[in-house]
Amino acid sequence: MEEKSARRGFLLSKGWLQAVIIVMLLGFTVLGILAYRTYEDGAPVPVKVLDPQGQLLFDGDDITAGQQVFLHNGLMEYGSVFGHGAYLGPDYTADYLRRSSNIAIAENGGPPVDEDGMELADDPGPGPASDIARQKTINQFRENQFDEESNELTFSQTQTDAFNKLIPYYTRFFSADNTENGLRKEAITDPEDLRNLTAFFAWSAWASAAERPGKDYSYTNNWPPEPRVDNSPTANALVWSAISLVALLGGIGLLFGAFGRYRDLGWHGREQTVVSFRDPSTVALTPGQKSTAWFFFVMAALFVIQCFVGAAVQHYRAELTSFFGFDLAAILPYNLLRTWHVQLSLFWVATSFVAAGIFLAPMIARREPRGQGKLGYFLLVALAVVVFGTLIGSYLGIHGVLEDAATNWFGLQGFEYLDLARLWQVLLVVGLIVWVYMLFRVMRSRLRREHPGNMPWLFFLAACAIPAFYAVGLLARTAEDFTITEFWRFWVVHLWVEDFLEIFTTVMVAYMFVLLGVVREKVALMVILLDIGLYSVGGVVGTMHHLYFSGTPSEHMALGAFFSAIEVVPLTFLTVEAWSFLQLGANQESKSTSDFPHRWAVMFLVAVGFWNFLGAGVFGFLVNLPIVSYFEIGTALTANHAHAAMMGVYGMLAIGLSLFCLRYMIPSKKWPEKWAKVSFWGTNIGLAWMCFATLLPLGIMQLYKSVDDGYFEARQLDFLTDKTTEMLEWMRLPGDVVFIVFGAIPVLYMCFLGVKYTIARRGEDGDGRGEADAELFTVISGTSMEDEPPEISGRPEPTPGT
Ligand code: HEM
Ligand SMILES: [Fe+2]
Repeated sequence: MEEKSARRGFLLSKGWLQAVIIVMLLGFTVLGILAYRTYEDGAPVPVKVLDPQGQLLFDGDDITAGQQVFLHNGLMEYGSVFGHGAYLGPDYTADYLRRSSNIAIAENGGPPVDEDGMELADDPGPGPASDIARQKTINQFRENQFDEESNELTFSQTQTDAFNKLIPYYTRFFSADNTENGLRKEAITDPEDLRNLTAFFAWSAWASAAERPGKDYSYTNNWPPEPRVDNSPTANALVWSAISLVALLGGIGLLFGAFGRYRDLGWHGREQTVVSFRDPSTVALTPGQKSTAWFFFVMAALFVIQCFVGAAVQHYRAELTSFFGFDLAAILPYNLLRTWHVQLSLFWVATSFVAAGIFLAPMIARREPRGQGKLGYFLLVALAVVVFGTLIGSYLGIHGVLEDAATNWFGLQGFEYLDLARLWQVLLVVGLIVWVYMLFRVMRSRLRREHPGNMPWLFFLAACAIPAFYAVGLLARTAEDFTITEFWRFWVVHLWVEDFLEIFTTVMVAYMFVLLGVVREKVALMVILLDIGLYSVGGVVGTMHHLYFSGTPSEHMALGAFFSAIEVVPLTFLTVEAWSFLQLGANQESKSTSDFPHRWAVMFLVAVGFWNFLGAGVFGFLVNLPIVSYFEIGTALTANHAHAAMMGVYGMLAIGLSLFCLRYMIPSKKWPEKWAKVSFWGTNIGLAWMCFATLLPLGIMQLYKSVDDGYFEARQLDFLTDKTTEMLEWMRLPGDVVFIVFGAIPVLYMCFLGVKYTIARRGEDGDGRGEADAELFTVISGTSMEDEPPEISGRPEPTPGT
């Protein structure tokens, strides 16, 4: 009994917690089984590839070495393999498959090809000879000559000849003495590297056409679409597309039903209560909280740099061969800029999350141990080392300054989104663990007095999940089979953004409202648990929607399509919640005597809800059905979704969090309300413009081209540089200018003010005590905080759960 009174009980009924734990356990059990199946049944990498005479053509080590040439030269940030990577260059699986099948058709008596493996005449026309040649080619490519006993693969004569003819082609392409393709001059010149690279492409093309043992489709579920080898959508792709639609519809129905039945679900303000908000600039800040001013400044600087790098990346698409007359690719080739662009986006968003965690923890715990400020600065320096190490490493790696092993450790690993070299990856994991430790030392005593299902624990556990799931990325190693690296890579890429970051976001936002007194803790806790459950039902197994065509067995596609469709259910619901959000602030403002201080932070949270629905939910679902993804993967519709979701959700959130914290650092009289307003409209209008003026129409055109003409054609530079496409690319310009000038730069200015006024407040009373002001509001009338946490000292303990 005594024990119980020392610890606050769980605020809700136990069923909530049990449901969430069961959902998580089930999800990860299925994902674990799928991991096992990936190792067992993924596209095999043969030990040897032989020609029909039994002579060695290349071996498994050559394929692995070629994969490393691909990754370490940043080619996954230029083109793609299995549809994964960047979109300026071709998809090398589709590219190799097209050229090699053309060569085979010609050799089998069909229309002739040039030395690049492309047909000479546009339309050779049907004829009995070419029909026979085509059928022969189909048989040669689809027949699976991989011996599971010996792990040896035998190529047909035409496949062998195609390999030998394509080495010179890829050699010409990658060692070209110009920057016309957006790569640096003479990007790869070593003959062995070029041969291995071709072997890697040849392996991926083989896996995309050879039929799985006992099946009538290939290891990649017949991806890419290619009539020359009879690759067309499988029955699975169609059936699971249809079933996933029903999963979405059913899920939305169930959720609406539940909300009709249980009116208490979702966000509710404290309706009977009127609170008065404390003037934020009178709130004493701890040293740890003050250190976050610098984090936010670094965040904003990285954001601005990312925008400029992005503008240069975009320029390559609008005007490939020159940068307003200047040969940019000689110094900053496309793939270098793209890897910087992608990595910076992760870095600045993560910086804001880390800072917001450090800022909120003492408000939750109501104290801060000594040394937190110093740890904060240490972490900031460590983060800067990782960021600049990554940027410099990628530069050296892509410019070919480093040798192989050194590239992997200090240059770049080259996996899109996990591009950074292993050293920086390990350091980043360590940095995130230090961050969790910082949160722990602040929260320790508070955690001791709380049930593990209550908000303080959920805040801490959600934070722990971030380094834990980033560390999974270490399982993706450049020398591992490509199918396996892709599997682990998406555990990070997907589970971060579509599950654990959504959860951490919900917890932080919920806490902000609780601390401000506009939402009761019980309501917030219920929303958090509901969201964890809803995000995880679809989000965990939904990871597989990235792996429809990566060499994994077909159950990955079936389960991925079904569960990721359910991901859209909570996102749809956010459209309802956005209004509740607006009211949470506005209601109190109208009743209270003091102004609601976080108007623009809350507006950014509303934007997060909006883009979660549009960017993640709608644009994500647009590319989610296997049958759509089959034609679409790696085109502008992916970029459309990626920008609207990544910037729309996590970018807006990062800015919203920074505004919330800055409001306490900058004196109220100096608060740059207008700048906040401008940055809100600048970022939102700029992003909407980017999507609606360019990415969405271009994506639809490209999808049409892919279905109508072919996937290979839709990924060609000819298409990307034709007049209409080029015009659409230029259409982006005004939106991008609005985004940078009115969106990003004001954020930088506001964060600069944060640093300026924090320095001015150095040495004030809060510093020595290390105690945070947790009282951000006072109750004027109505019910008090009946479920508020126990105080550090003095106050009597409230009864749990009343
Ligand atoms: C805030 C949440 C989300 C973020 C930040 C996000 C971000 C991204 C990014 C950056 C990519 C590009 C990955 C790559 O190029 O390999 C991507 C791809 C994808 N996303 Fe999302 N996403 C989110 C939510 C969703 C949702 C809810 C769905 C659908 C239910 C979805 C479906 C997809 C699919 C199918 C792809 C693969 C497209 C392709 O490779 O062509 N995403 N997402
Ligand atoms: Fe995903």
